[in-house]
Formats: sequence, structure tokens, C-alpha cells
Amino acid sequence: MTPEEFRKQAHLFVDWMADYLEGGVEKLPVRSLVKPKEVFAQLPDSPPQEGEPMDLIFKDFKDIVLPGMTHWQHPKYFAYFPANSSYPSLLAEMLTATMGAQCMLWETSPAATEVEEKVMQWLIQMLNLPRDWDGCIQTSASSSTLCAIISAREKYSDYTINQTGVKTNSNLRVYSSFHIHSSIEKAVRIAGMGSDNYVQIEGDSAYAMNPTALEEAIKKDLAAGKKPICVVAAIGTTSSTAVDPIHAIADICHRYGIWLHIDAAYSGTALILPEYRHLIQGIELADSFVFNPHKWMFTNFDCSAYFVKDKHALLRAFTILPEYLKTKTGDSVTNYKDWGVQLGRRFRALKLWFVIRNFGVSGIQAKLRHHMNLAEEVETKINEHPDFEMLAPRLFNLVCFRFAPSDWDEKRINRVNEMMLHEMNESGQLFMTHTILDGKYTLRLVIGQTNVERRHVEEAWTLILETAEKFKQENLG
Ligand SMILES: Cc1ncc(COP(=O)(O)O)c(C=O)c1O
Repeated sequence: MTPEEFRKQAHLFVDWMADYLEGGVEKLPVRSLVKPKEVFAQLPDSPPQEGEPMDLIFKDFKDIVLPGMTHWQHPKYFAYFPANSSYPSLLAEMLTATMGAQCMLWETSPAATEVEEKVMQWLIQMLNLPRDWDGCIQTSASSSTLCAIISAREKYSDYTINQTGVKTNSNLRVYSSFHIHSSIEKAVRIAGMGSDNYVQIEGDSAYAMNPTALEEAIKKDLAAGKKPICVVAAIGTTSSTAVDPIHAIADICHRYGIWLHIDAAYSGTALILPEYRHLIQGIELADSFVFNPHKWMFTNFDCSAYFVKDKHALLRAFTILPEYLKTKTGDSVTNYKDWGVQLGRRFRALKLWFVIRNFGVSGIQAKLRHHMNLAEEVETKINEHPDFEMLAPRLFNLVCFRFAPSDWDEKRINRVNEMMLHEMNESGQLFMTHTILDGKYTLRLVIGQTNVERRHVEEAWTLILETAEKFKQENLG
């Protein structure tokens, strides 16, 4: 491709991107409706021997790829948690891709390191995290949690396990509530401690960890000669955005000398609002914290912000320095390659910097409050409707509910809600997902997409009502 062709195509692409985001996406089914292997079957069996013109490649993108995409930036995307984006973030990604820098060391791009250092400090202020903590960008909450668990493993084994490996029948124990994300157990496995050493603590009626049960489990393990090393508490579980009592848990961890990691992957963004800060009372006793700007802070995937009280524990766990990575500046500067699993790093701080500057803190706060208000409106509608019920307290912008006519039994209610979900998603008009809470099939409506407006939520609610009414009238399920 010549520079002239690049320029021409890039302008066309930007027009396409703007059209897509300005409303084009709303004309597409939210969740892709293709069948398994439908995309695969349309692609040639062998790669082209000769280069193909970009016009043709772009046509195939529109004809083959686009129908196979689920549109996460569709305003009626209400599934899982969002991976939302925004114009400033996209623009930064264009520049990042253009420079194509690999920012593992300060020397491989000093600005990438120093912008990251600065925006991590900004985030600390924005979320009101302890001012003396340090932060870095990781690919995901899963990898941030892995860093926390490996740091705890090293710290409490006096930094010996990296050298000796984890012994068979390790007695190092990690705790969380039953309702926490599966990435915690995955990290325990990868860290070599084994799922048998992962203790899940019962939750209360709001699906938050019971601190008394946590302390009992720790005491029992200590009496049996085991070594509690880490507790992972949640601010916003995946199923229902339940919040564990951070203060009480931090106090226990402090008394027993256990690493406390806080997984706030999605809901952590809410801490930008002062009215949510009470949720992290006691955080100064914690050791690490993760939240994902790539979920709810308008920053393109991937961008996970990981913060630690004692960066030396992290660095001692992860630093390794072969000859070919030695630099003149050495450790007089920050080399983010030592702050996690991967060596190579993208310049992800640029998009965060663009987003925070272009929205401003108040712009981000306004969007978050807008999402909370829309969620509250749906909650009110559910509470006022005789055939619908809320299944978990709504703390942020996730509404957990179901259709439950009073004369239906539990089995039928579960079955019908599942059928309703499939039918609505297959209509292409919205995308929601589910969870199970106390054995109840639960519909999850997450109102966090960057461009979601009241009309989108109202249309979604109308579809939910119509679908439910149809199941009732036609006596389906
Ligand atoms: C509470 C929580 N923790 C961790 C994760 C894992 O996030 P990631 O995809 O960034 O690893 C999720 C994903 O939704 C989550 O909801």
C-alpha cells in the first residue's frame, strides 16, 4: 500500500467509524445472529498469494465480518458488563496504533512510562485511593488479580517460591466469597497453590461476604497448620454487583497479617462519585486494588488499572533482568516490564489520558450518574409491576430481576425467564445476559454503555414487557 492509498483509505475508514457510532450501529442486531462456522465458511481455505486491494478487503469486512460481530458499542447492549469506549479513546488508539511502540522499558518510550505514571496518580485521586499507593496498567482484572496473588505468595513465603516452586500439598490459602469472579480461582491455580487451597466463604442475603465466617475459616486453617496468605474482596460481584464489607474484612486481614486484594473490576469506576466512596472505608489497610477503565470508564479495551500499597512486593515477585534488557538508566526510572506477567506493553495510558482530559472528571461523573438514574428508573418499574421482582439490591447500574407471576411455580418461572432471554436476544433488539441467584434464573440488565439514553432503556423495557405478556397470554413454558 502506498502512503497515498493509506491516506485515502484512512479517511474512508474514519467516515465509516463515525457513521457506525453516530447511529449506524443501532440499525444492526445487538448480538450477532450468525450460526457457528458461518463466518469461517465464507473465508477462503488458503491465504491469497498476491496482495488484494483494500476496497475488496473492506467490502468483505462489511459483508462477512460485521454480521458476525456482537456490537458492544450499541446503546442497547445490556449484557455481562460493558466494554465501553468513547471518541477520545478511539482517537488515542489511532495514534497508539500509528506509532506502534512497544513500551516495556522506560527507554523504549519514556513518554509512555511517564504518562502512565501520571494517569495512575490521577486515578488514585479520582477514586480517592490512598495517595501513597502506586499503579500500573494491566491487560485485565484477571491478570491484576494474578499479580496480587503471586505477590502475596512471594511476600508470605519470604520470596522463596519463585526460586523453589510451590511444594506439593501446599498449605497456602486464599479466601473470597462464593460470589466472586472465577478469575480468582484461576489465579490461585496459575500461582500453583491449587483449587483445594481456595476457600470460598458464604455470603449474606445481599450476596456479600460474611466477615465472621471469613475469620472462622482463617482460625480453622491456622489451627490445622495452614497458612492464610490472601483474601480477595469484591466491590461489585459479577452476578449482582454485591459489595463485600471492606472495612471489616480489612480489619481481619490486618490482624492476621494477610494480603487483602480488592476486585472492583467493574463497579470500581463508581468510586469516582463521592457518594460511593464510603464503600472503600478501610482501604488503607488493604494491599492492592483493581478496576477496569475498559469496562465502565469509556476507555477502549484493554485497560485494567492495578494499584498496590507496596510496589516492592510486586517488583520482587516479577522482576527478572536478562542482559539484553539492561539499560543505562537501570532502576533509576520505572520499567513497567517488572510490574506484571508480560514483557511487551502497548501504550495504553494514552487513551486514558485522552479520556480523562476530554471528559474531565465532572464529565465522567455525569455519565455515571446518568447510568445510575436510568437503572433506578427500571428498578422502580419492576417494583411497581405485580408480575416482576428484583432479585438483588441495586447498588450501581445493574438491575437483577425476573418475571414471576404469583401463580407460577419456581421451575416454570426459571424456564420462562430463560426462554424470554433467548427470544429477546435472538430478536437482535437488545442483548442481556443472566445469572443464577439462590437457584433463581436472574435476568441482568446493565445500563453502562457510553451512548445509552432513556429511550434505549424504555425500548428495552417495552420489549421485556411484551415478551413476558406473550408468554403469559399464550401460556407458554
Ligand atoms: C468482578 C469481576 N472481576 C474480574 C473480572 C475479569 O475481568 P477481565 O476480563 O478484565 O479479566 C470480571 C469480568 O467481568 C468481573 O466482573
